[in-house]
Amino acid sequence: MWHHLTANFADLLFSVAEAMDLVDASLADHQMRTAYVCAELARVAGLDFEQTERLAIAALLHDMGALSPEAKMGVHSAKESRLEPHCQRGGQLFREAAWLAPAAAIVDWHHTPMTKHLLAGRGLADFDVLGAQMLCLADHLEVAIRRDTFILHQVDALRAGIHQFAGSLLHADVVALFDQVSGNDCFWLELVARDLGQQLRKRNLLRSVSLDYAATRALAGVFKDMTDFRANFTVTHSAGVAACATGIGAALGLAEQELQQLELAGLLHDIGKLVVPNAIFCKAAPLTPEEFAVIRQHAYCSQHILARVRGFEKVAKWAGQHHERSNGSGYCRGAAQAQLDLGARALGVADVAIAMAERRPYREPHAAATVQRELAAQAGKGWLDAEVVAALADNYPAIAARVNEAQAADATRYRNHYAMIS
Ligand SMILES: [Fe+2]
Ligand SMILES: [Fe+2]
Ligand SMILES: [Fe+2]
Repeated sequence: MWHHLTANFADLLFSVAEAMDLVDASLADHQMRTAYVCAELARVAGLDFEQTERLAIAALLHDMGALSPEAKMGVHSAKESRLEPHCQRGGQLFREAAWLAPAAAIVDWHHTPMTKHLLAGRGLADFDVLGAQMLCLADHLEVAIRRDTFILHQVDALRAGIHQFAGSLLHADVVALFDQVSGNDCFWLELVARDLGQQLRKRNLLRSVSLDYAATRALAGVFKDMTDFRANFTVTHSAGVAACATGIGAALGLAEQELQQLELAGLLHDIGKLVVPNAIFCKAAPLTPEEFAVIRQHAYCSQHILARVRGFEKVAKWAGQHHERSNGSGYCRGAAQAQLDLGARALGVADVAIAMAERRPYREPHAAATVQRELAAQAGKGWLDAEVVAALADNYPAIAARVNEAQAADATRYRNHYAMIS
């Protein structure tokens, strides 16, 4: 029976990798190009499909643990000693979803020098070490590419840059693989091609399989952390929004598949905030109009990121509409009530309710009674859907209990694995 949600695994990973590449112009295509170099190294090394896939998964998301745009740019200029936290956080995030876990060790070690592996008694025969070394090479190469200079004019300098690491950061055998793949113009031209993402999607590096809801939910639970774990006051935001929106949806009689889609839209609604710098995301004061414009793009970005995942049609639509308002005064399209599905309207109410109940650096959390009063007031102004606001009010204790449970689980994960690493 086709009443359960599925999502395409390869689409989802490529889409999230592309989203990470939107963070800053200086990082344009970084994950994608790194994955391309890894795929080429895997090809000449004769890796099998399973190993190539593990390496590609690691490469596509390798900087996932560098949570903010500033951190992502920082890891490419920082000294070795400061690189550990994003490797540890990334590896830990990978371990939390079964479909990413096989690639976790490669992420842990993607900045670990070969000399350190040897001291620990590890060699290239261990695939995690070989994969991590390939990723390390690819990452260093990609970061060294100048975006303002024709690629074929940089080849000698880029190759010399990699050679200087042979025997220290990189195993000489991995550098030799690089010499094999990089000896022709095609490698370099393809590396900087504008449609590299499309080309890589076609290469079948990842299994193009439909994931079931449980697997998709696990991946979404990790991807949402890329935004939520950036500030200690947003840690449980998306978990709360998902629990609240589905609580409302259930009260209004949404079918099971739509509740699953709503849960995923709740978890991923703010994934577009990946592109918002920490200076604005974590600002300890209300935003200026210019800063708010930077924030506003996130609804568009969330939809843009999710829309390329087969199976996520509604998830993308609802996530993209979570700041629309019933009277057309919201963003990013100014869509009004008639164009908004119940899922989008429930998500919009849940987002306001959860945000009000959260602490912000410039205000304390609002009490439940204040939240409910404000929701009713916003319904009265034609911003929020009155039916949805009433459904939340009528079921408040039960929905609040769901929200608390979901938020407590994520707060614990955050405390155990992420807050301590800095
Ligand atoms: Fe890194
Ligand atoms: Fe949002
Ligand atoms: Fe939100």
